[in-house]
Amino acid sequence: MLEDDIAQVLISEQALRARTEELAARISCDYAGEELILLCVLKGGVAFLVDLMRCLTIPHAIDFMAISSYGNSTESSGVVRILKDLDMSIDGKHVLIVEDIIDTGRTLSYIVANLQTRHPASVRVCTLLSKPSRREVEVPVDYVGFEVPNEFVVGYGLDYAERYRNLRFIGILKPEVYRKIHIPSQELPSPQVSSADKEA
Ligand code: PRP
Repeated sequence: MLEDDIAQVLISEQALRARTEELAARISCDYAGEELILLCVLKGGVAFLVDLMRCLTIPHAIDFMAISSYGNSTESSGVVRILKDLDMSIDGKHVLIVEDIIDTGRTLSYIVANLQTRHPASVRVCTLLSKPSRREVEVPVDYVGFEVPNEFVVGYGLDYAERYRNLRFIGILKPEVYRKIHIPSQELPSPQVSSADKEA
């Protein structure tokens, strides 16, 4: 059972749903009458995007970007390669980036700067989780679901070695799990993975 690898449920399914409804109500109000594109950064943001969009009461489009971080496995370099770009133009549109977690802030900082060159009406950020204690680059975040401590969190889109994304809650992974699973270092791009590995 995947649940057996979880030390503690940090945010329950019910709490996730309630907070998502609150954020969606605010977003629906803030963007009423505007052309809104929700931009999901694959893959971790998918679960949050799907639940958030179903709670929105205003028309909107969705689009996706896939990125990969350069640099070694133990730090997010912030130098990002776009693996899949947006399908649509954001010229004159309001873009709301939907993320699962902001850790160092490097990924988001790159994406925001990249999007700004495309002349959107605005670029804002909605993240389910934020780890302020890990921040290295300040990025303005407009909507935050929960601030979380510097623990190794998985579930509801967040993975370790591509596992646990399907959990309906956010949980803290047992340290013995990420010490046990062996993955070649070049396949560990996630800063979140690396932070826990460094602590391990
Ligand atoms: C996570 C998350 C953010 C990024 C945040 O993605 O979804 O995109 O890391 O880290 P940062 O603030 O330190 O830059 P990850 O690389 O784990 O990929 P995934 O979403 O496909 O799991």
